[in-house]
Formats: sequence, C-alpha cells, structure tokens
Amino acid sequence: MERTLIGVALLAISHTAVAGYTKFPEGFTFGVATAAHQIEGAWNVSGKTENVWDRLSHTRPEMIADGTNGDVACDSYNRYQEDVEELAHLGVDFYRFSLSWARILPTGRADVINPDGIRYYSNLLDALAEKNIEPLVTLFHWDLPQTLQDLGGWANPKMIDYFRDYSNVCFREFGDKIKSWITFNEPYEICEDAYGDDKKAPAINSHGVGNYLCSDTLLKSHAEAYHLYNETYRPKQNGRIMISINSIWYEPNNPDDAEQVALAEVANQFKFGWFAHPIFTEEGGYPTVMIENVAQQSTAEKLPKPRLEQFDSYWINRIKGTSDFLGINHYTTHLITGAGEDPLAKSPSWLKDIGAVTTMNVGGDSASEWLRVVPTGFANLLRWCKISYNDPPIYITENGFSDRGTLQDYGRIKYFNDYLSEILNVIYDDNVRVLGYTAWTLMDNFEWRAGFSERFGFYYVDITQPDRPRTPKLSVDYFRQLLATRELPQDKRFQDPAM
Ligand SMILES: *[C@@H]1O[C@H](CO)[C@@H](O)[C@H](O)[C@H]1NC(C)=O
Ligand SMILES: *[C@@H]1O[C@H](CO)[C@@H](O)[C@H](O)[C@H]1NC(C)=O
Repeated sequence: MERTLIGVALLAISHTAVAGYTKFPEGFTFGVATAAHQIEGAWNVSGKTENVWDRLSHTRPEMIADGTNGDVACDSYNRYQEDVEELAHLGVDFYRFSLSWARILPTGRADVINPDGIRYYSNLLDALAEKNIEPLVTLFHWDLPQTLQDLGGWANPKMIDYFRDYSNVCFREFGDKIKSWITFNEPYEICEDAYGDDKKAPAINSHGVGNYLCSDTLLKSHAEAYHLYNETYRPKQNGRIMISINSIWYEPNNPDDAEQVALAEVANQFKFGWFAHPIFTEEGGYPTVMIENVAQQSTAEKLPKPRLEQFDSYWINRIKGTSDFLGINHYTTHLITGAGEDPLAKSPSWLKDIGAVTTMNVGGDSASEWLRVVPTGFANLLRWCKISYNDPPIYITENGFSDRGTLQDYGRIKYFNDYLSEILNVIYDDNVRVLGYTAWTLMDNFEWRAGFSERFGFYYVDITQPDRPRTPKLSVDYFRQLLATRELPQDKRFQDPAM
C-alpha cells in the first residue's frame, strides 16, 4: 500500500500548486467527441435494427426525463457533412465518434453485414479525411443490439466472441482509414449503471450481481479485441487501440481525516481501478481491496461464493497491458464523508461493497445533478493515475459541462478553461504524460436518460425543427481560438460580464 501513501502526499501538495500556465506543449492534440446513438437518428432505416436504447426509450418513455428518444436525434445520419463542416470550423485535430453495432451488423452477429451501414461510415471517414481531421473511433458506446441483449448482453460470456467478431468486421472494413481505436467507452457506466442499476439502458438493476458479471465479460471482450488488432491488423494498419475509462474522482471531505483519506482511495479503486487495475498495473487483476470487500459482504450475505472473484492467471495475463494509452473521461469529483453504508446504497450493491458514505456537496453547479465543477479534482486524478499505473501516456477522451442550452454559455467556457488549466499544471509541474484532449461534445444531443434536458454541445440543436438546425454558442469561438493559438484564450469577451 506504499502507493496509497505517495498518493496522499501528492494530494496534499496539489492544493498549493501555483496556476498560470497558458500554452500547450508542441504536439498536444485537440478534438471533440460524439456517440452514434446520441446523434445519428435513422434508428429504423437503411438496415439498422433495434438497440437497447431504442428499446428502453420506446417501451419505457417515462424513464427519459423529457420523454424524447434517439429516433432522429441530431439526424447526423443524413447531416454528417454539416457535422464535418462544424469540426473544420472549430479547427480540431481529430474527431471522436462511435460506430453503431446494430447499423453494421443487423443480427448482432457477423453473419449479415449491412452495406448501408458500411457506406455511411466510409462516407463520414472520407469527409473527415478531406478536411484533414483524424478519426478516433469507438467500437462500443452503449448501444448494444437488442438481439444480443435478449441473450443476456454483457452478463453473457458468449459476448466475448460476439464483440471480437464485430470488432473484426470494423477493423477489416474501416481499418485502412482509422489509426486510433477505442474498444469500450466508460465500462463503469456500462456495468454499474446499466446492469447494477437502472440509470442506463438496458436498466437491468441487478445490483451487486449483474454489474460484476458484466465487468468479467467486458474486460475479457476488450482484451480479445485488443489482441485481434495487435496480432492481425496492427502489422498492416499500424494504428493504436485503447480503452476509455470514466472517473468520478473521490476526495476526502476532510483531507486531515486519515479514515476519509483511506476510504477515498478505496472508492477510487472501486470506481476507476475496477477497470484500470486489470489492464494498467503490473500485477493485473481486480484491485485487492475490491476482491476483499466483496468477499466479506458476500459472506455476511451467506452466499457460498463471493459475488466478484479474481480472474484466473490465464485471464490476468491475457488482460494485462492491453491498451496503448490510458483513455480518461472525466467530468467531476465527489467527496467521501466517512465509513459505513451510503444512504443511497441498495443491498447488495457496488456502493455498499465500498463501505463509505459519499456526497455530491462540493464545487459549482451544472445542469446535471452528478456534475459538480471541481477543476482541482481533475489534477489530482491525473497525478494519481501517473502513480498508480506506472506513468502511462494519457488521452483525455471526454470532458465537458452541461447547461440548459444557452447560446452565451459562459459556464461551459469557464469549465473548459479551468479544467484545461489544471491539465497544464500537471503536464508542467508533475510531468504527467497527457498527450491530447477531447471536449464533450460537438453539439447538443440525446443525453441518455436526461434526453435533451441537459445540453453539453458547442452547437445548440433545435430538436423542434425537422432539419435540426445547429447554432454556434459562444464556446465555439472560445474553442476555435484555443485551437488556432494552442493557448488558453485571455479575451475578455469569454468572461461572464455578470461575474
Ligand atoms: C420508423 O420509426 C418511425 C418513428 O420514429 C416511424 O414513424 C416509422 O414508421 C418507422 N419506419 C419504419 C420503416 O418502420
Ligand atoms: C502486441 O504485439 C507485439 C508484437 O507481436 C507483442 O510484442 C506484444 O506483446 C503484444 N501486446 C500484448 C499486450 O500482448
């Protein structure tokens, strides 16, 4: 547990760090991100079949805050050329988007390949190439074909084969145009929110059980896709492949309280370490504290076997080292206030297994309850990743801020500016190897269970109009200036006159 002690020392130092860097290093790259289901629409045309988000929003519309769905979304299936124009206007180096599995493989399996699906993504890739925008492509951003969900989805180990087969089709069909791949977007949200809870589709809510079945399958699926790429495709396509792990970063409410400090470390292992430890550490496997805590709880529940068990040595080795970079999605920090059972914890559950009480009572507001604005938490997370995972090269694959859709989006600009400033601090003061940054998101889009009620975009999208017109917000000018100069803009017009 030496690592923990160093981590604590660094956390303490970080509070005294001096800010003020503005210039990004040579070679640092910038992009923006989207996800297929959130923008494409065209949910039932050109051969695409139903995915788990189509199913949830159609059969349980009351689960979506504003009753909307992804049927049309931003209509990017028909308007991708406009999207590319906007990307070019922003001046991004790369565009992160995801492939819709059900659009490419209508049965979910690799027996039928949908030519319209292949054509759509090929056209998008060609349009990006014309503007010199590099694609960064996510294989799975939450929209599992319903056919595979009907077989249990990520709780079914057979998914390892299905995901490898799907990845194989994508590498084969698009790999000559794509140099950077992401296997999974946010495994925690897939396994905990969708299987261990009902916060995301398919809303299985098998708390403390389904979430761990999912993580076993997901990590193995990721590793198999990595090895397939590494052995079969990398030699000719010469690209790179990684996983994007989301973190709500936990800090002690009282940094002088040793118990809270220790519990924050436990919570970070349960949250980030759950998926990062098996891939990015030398020992591999799930974090020891997870295995121990779940075993202890399972015994108390009189179960004959723990709900989460360590991988065997074959899988520990097979999963270890299977990411060329550490992809981090980061938005927010929450606090740990003490030991015990979180008032929101179901029984059994991942949250109860942690054994700590959490609070969101920290930082500034956004339109999303969970998204608290705590820029220093980002720096602490990045320092912790450097120490915990042997100084990996890092890409920030998502970071962003929600409001209700104002065009004068000073809150978003300030969020980007303050979070980017913390990235500069850790690059220059701590030598954390952050190589690139991806802002979430190009345009307001279908924000999962929040529908269109929480908006994260650079462009405002009017979803009441059939042609889904996009209007640039002030943050477009901010980001465009940042990308043109590679320096945090100091221009007064980006500061809220009311502040
Ligand atoms: C596709 O879904 C829309 C609703 O979004 C519906 O009006 C339309 O009839 C469907 N089309 C087909 C071909 O099923
Ligand atoms: C990827 O392939 C290279 C070349 O064959 C090999 O040396 C390396 O160990 C592979 N990576 C992993 C994580 O297996």
